[in-house]
Formats: sequence, C-alpha cells, structure tokens
Amino acid sequence: MEIDETSGTVLLRTAASCYVLRLDTAAGSVHHVYWGAPLPLTDAAALPVWADHDNSFAGRYDGVEEYPVDGGARFAVPALDIRFDDGSSPLEPQTAGIRVAGEGHVVVSLRDRNRPLAWELHYRVPAHGDVLERWTELVHTGENRQEPVLLLRYASAHWPMPLRPRWRMSSVNGGWSAEHRLERSELPVGETTLSSRRGHTGHHTNPWVMLDGGQADEEHGEVWAATLATSGSWRLTVQRTAAGRAGVVASEGHEGVEITLAPGQRYVTPISVAAYSADGFGGVSRAFHAHVRHHVLSHGDELRPVLYNSWEATSFAVDEENQLELARRAAALGVELFVVDDGWFGARDDDRAGLGDWTPHSQRFPRGLRPLADQVHQLGMGFGVWVEPEMVNPDSDLYRKHPDWVLHLPDRTATELRHQLVLDFSRPDVTDWAYEWLRELVVDNTVDFLKWDFNRSFTEAGVHAGGSSARKVYVEHARGLYLLLDRLRTDFPDLRIETCAGGGGRVDLGILRHTDQAWTSDNTDAVDRLTIQHGFSQVYPSTVMSAWVTDSPNPLTGRRVPLAFRFHSAMAGVLGIGGDLAHWTPQEMEEATRLIALYKDIRPVIQHGRQYRLSDPNQSPVTAVQYVGADAERTAVLVSRPSTAFGCIHPPLRLRGLVHDARYRDEDSGAEWSGATLAGFGLPVPELPGGDYASALIRLRRV
Ligand code: GLA
Repeated sequence: MEIDETSGTVLLRTAASCYVLRLDTAAGSVHHVYWGAPLPLTDAAALPVWADHDNSFAGRYDGVEEYPVDGGARFAVPALDIRFDDGSSPLEPQTAGIRVAGEGHVVVSLRDRNRPLAWELHYRVPAHGDVLERWTELVHTGENRQEPVLLLRYASAHWPMPLRPRWRMSSVNGGWSAEHRLERSELPVGETTLSSRRGHTGHHTNPWVMLDGGQADEEHGEVWAATLATSGSWRLTVQRTAAGRAGVVASEGHEGVEITLAPGQRYVTPISVAAYSADGFGGVSRAFHAHVRHHVLSHGDELRPVLYNSWEATSFAVDEENQLELARRAAALGVELFVVDDGWFGARDDDRAGLGDWTPHSQRFPRGLRPLADQVHQLGMGFGVWVEPEMVNPDSDLYRKHPDWVLHLPDRTATELRHQLVLDFSRPDVTDWAYEWLRELVVDNTVDFLKWDFNRSFTEAGVHAGGSSARKVYVEHARGLYLLLDRLRTDFPDLRIETCAGGGGRVDLGILRHTDQAWTSDNTDAVDRLTIQHGFSQVYPSTVMSAWVTDSPNPLTGRRVPLAFRFHSAMAGVLGIGGDLAHWTPQEMEEATRLIALYKDIRPVIQHGRQYRLSDPNQSPVTAVQYVGADAERTAVLVSRPSTAFGCIHPPLRLRGLVHDARYRDEDSGAEWSGATLAGFGLPVPELPGGDYASALIRLRRV
C-alpha cells in the first residue's frame, strides 16, 4: 500500500491490479480515483476525480464516492442509510483520518459532523493475492443515555467502476437443483438488484457480480468483480447512472432488515471481496480460487477425500446393515470417507418427523451409530453423518418441548416447508443446545465429517414486539451459525464440514470460512452438472465443489448416461460416489475402481491447480475444463460431449498455463507435444467414442 500525504491519495496494490482512493477533507468525503491495471503512485496522486457536471439537479459525486451516505446532494444508491431517533436521516460526513492497521490493511475513518455516529472503511490486500477485501465498521459514539441509531442500509462497500461507454453484467441465477446458471446481459441505466430475502444465501442467485465493457471473454479483456461473504439475507445493487457511472453496493440484509445500534455499540459488516483482471473472466475466477484456498478456507492445502454418500441409494431407509453393506463396497472401490445421510435419528422415517431429535433411530440403529462407525474405520475410511441442526419438524420431541425456539410470530401461521420450521440460531440458548448434541454425536461416534444441511428458507421471521430491528434475525441467524461452527471446529480440529442447503443453497465466501467444502446441487445428472459447475466455478474453486457419481437413469432427470461420463463430470471437483452400489454390476465396480484410482492420481492437479475453462457448456458441443498443477509439471483436461450431430467437428483444445518451451507427454497415449503447440494449435480432441455422452480425461506430464 502506498500513500501520498499531500494529495491524500491511497494506492492499494494486488498482484496485478491497483485501487486508488483520495480523501477530500473539505468535502468530508472519500473519492474513488481508479481501479484497474497497475500504475505508479506519482500518476495516481495527480489523477483527477471525475465528478458529474455542476447544476442544481446533480449529485456531483454520485457514483464517485467510496462509501456514499444518505445526506447532502447525493441521489444515488447509498451504502449507508440510517435513521436517528428523532426521525431524521441525512448524514453529514467528515473525514477523521487514515491509519495503517497492519500489513496491507488501511482504515479510513469518518464521522458525522455533530451526531453520534462514526464509521470506518477497511481496505485489505491479503498477502500474495490478487483480490481486495473491504468492510465497514459502524460505531454509535454517543453516551449511554442517548438514543440508539437505526441502520437501514449498512453496506460492506461500494465498488465504483471506471468510466466506460457501456457495461455488461455477469451473474448466476436458477433454483433448487438448477443452481449457478451463468447469465451475461447489458447493464441498463438504473438499479439492478440481486438479493436474497430468505435468511440464507439462496439457490436462485449468488452474492457476486462481474462487470465488463462488453468485449471481455474467458481469457481476454478487463473484468471487475465483487462478492459478499455472507450467508444470511443480502443485497447487491449494481447501479449505472445516466451520467455514465457504474458501481456495486454490496450489503448484508435485504430491504427492511434493520439493525439498532445502541450507544457504544459497533457493527461490523461482512467482507466484500473484489477482483480485477485483464485476463478475462477466467483471470478473475483464478484470483478468487486462489484467495479461497489460501485465505478463506482453514484447510485449503489439504486434499479432499473421495467420499461415499448414502442419500440416493437408501434415502431415509438407512440402517446398520444396509449402510455396512454399502460401506464394504465403497471401501473396495477406494472410497476414503463414508457418509450416512438423512434418516439415522429420531423418528425419521420420512421428512415429516424427527428433525430436532438427534439420537439414533431406535429400530434402525438399535446399537447406536458407534458399531457402524467402528466398522467403517476398520474398512479404512473416515466416518461422516448428515445433520440439519437449524431445523425442526413440528412432529418431534424437541418442538413439543421448545415450541418457542422456532422463527414465528404470535398471530401468524408458522408456514411449514418440507414439514419443517427454522430454529432461531441468533439465540445463544438455541445454539448452546445444538453445540451440546453435536459434541456428543461427534465424540460418541468418532465422527470425522458432518454434512451440514439446511432445507428451507425463512418465513415469519422476526421477533414479536422486537421494535425496529425485529427482523435482524435474517442476518443474525447466520452469524449465530458461524459462531457454532467455529466452536465445534476449535474443539474438534480434525472434524471436516460440508455446507449444504438442499444442494447449493448456502454457498458463499462467508460460510466457506467456517466449513471445508460445499454440496453443489441436489441435481446429480452428469449433463446438467456441467452447466451448474461452469457457473459455480466463476467464483468458487474445485477444491470445495462436491460432486457425486450416481445411478443411471438419474433419479431426478431420468437421463441414462454411461459410467465414464458420470465420472468425468464429477471428477471436475471433489469426487464422491452416491449410487446404490448394491446394484452396480461387477463390470461397473471394476470400472469405478479404475476411475477412482485415476482421480486420486490427478487429484492434486484438479483440487489445487489453476483452472481454465476451455469452453462453455452452454455454447459449445464439447465442454472442456483444464487444471494446471504446481510449476506446470502436470495438467489435466476433462472433456465431455453430451450429444453428437453429423458433421460436428471439435476444434483442438487450446491449452493454457503451460510452459511454452517445455514438452508434455500424454500419460496414457504417450503422444508428446510442446507447450507452444498445445497453446497455439491446441491439443487434438481425443478420439471420443461415437454417439452421445462421450467423455475423456487427458493427463499430460512435462518431460
Ligand atoms: C437435502 C440434501 C440432500 C439430502 C437430503 C436429505 O436435500 O441436499 O443431499 O441430504 O436433504 O433429506
């Protein structure tokens, strides 16, 4: 970080970008100067701030400020919108200084001219990375007897974009079993909001957005991206003004989720992580992937085990005998972690009862889970179980005992979804209860892994007579969850946790700080997954992307797909098996054993390598994803062609990230090419089997 005292300019440098802001003490404002390719401080300090032209209808600095507040001649989307006790809202900011808070971490302080509110803008560049982190801390600076301040909008950051004639926005949308569908469209003048009003991240969109001038592609062109690390309700508003400004305001909480700040209280927003790359969408994705591995995950350097999960095989009908049978078969395949899914506890015979009663099902596991866990361990695998701690079925002992623990309002119907209600995890008594049974479960059964599910969105969420901040549970539930996860992880450092919410309904940079991997989608159709994984990979790395090989025809779509294709699709992330192994033929078992061994061989490259999306499943008949390992020693390419057509030719796959003057040998065919040829001409697409659902894994090693 570099500071030019005279002009008040601060320059933050990441590996391949820089971000410049300037304090304007007279205006009481922090102006944005530049975000893009690196430039020297001397120039940055002399750059002008591009304000709108001056007239009595203009907000001169709309879109130009680092953290616009509601107040003064500002008419754009505020990052900070509050209400004082007397009903007035406008703020009058004054700059109060800059301090360096640590390596790569600078804090700009502001406060209201005469009212008791101060706020700090935090900027941090994580070491050796190519992303920028921002968050904001708000403090009620008044005396005890003063009234609280109501926070209406409390953004982590506003990310202003440079001036460009047009902007295109990329984001994902979808729904349950159809998460992460990537969409790019022209950004209109006005406000475009992506949001979750559900109390969790959501399947229908995800808290990130990328912006480009319309010309960027996978490997070329400038792309700016902003994310929000939160797992409750959230809002990202992308704004484009008629004057040509664009920017992203990223905040926790949807509209109407207000927070009271009492005198002396501090509210710290979640972190918003942003990246700029001149190397297209792929460049931005790789910056995020590296950041997640090195700075978000606690065990980013570990290889994730190949797991088996029982859900699609035995559904709710799990018992000691059938799980042991599956475990034996899974171990024979080379599986490393065996996970018993839903149905092992309480009166859980289907989804109508049992959630909340976390003791082993008396008929199915009369001896408890421990004997199964012991045998799974003897088979050489880790032992995992499915839990859904934040939920309760009204038909459960827990609900009969603590009906007041759920999100509900006195004269409103508590809407059931999947026959369940949400426990209020913003209440420490509720999370203490969850901690106790989880601790016991883990200790008594030597549990190595939890699949932590969350199967419905919030309704009737609020506190009866809770006053103005009655709806804060939409953000505070997730904060309570984080504390609980951290408590468990501190007490059980070897425990690993998979985040799941009916598949990918809670995947974000917030939850990944407290878990290890994510269940990507309940849709395990190997073809649908190509699109889902393409969208997922825009921000999240393969090392958290859990993917299972399940049965054919697929239970959800009915599609029949050969085993190899199912494997090649799932190998793009953390490979798992989810089929009913009791019915796999000896030939299938043999093929699966071979493919799992192959995956383990190339796993360090896939899970820890740099990822290049060579084609887009929505636009090309062939989907290809490449991973490049450390020092470009090895590379792997996964190729899938879901359907064929006469005359459909496959252009060579132009590989990325290799050393041009090195030679690479195909580890299976022995063919040898130079890095330059592989990048320039490309790798000839291998002889794929004819017909639909053709696929291949290519491994190249430097010779
Ligand atoms: C959710 C999960 C599934 C499975 C079921 C169990 O839908 O995403 O993988 O665990 O719950 O009820």
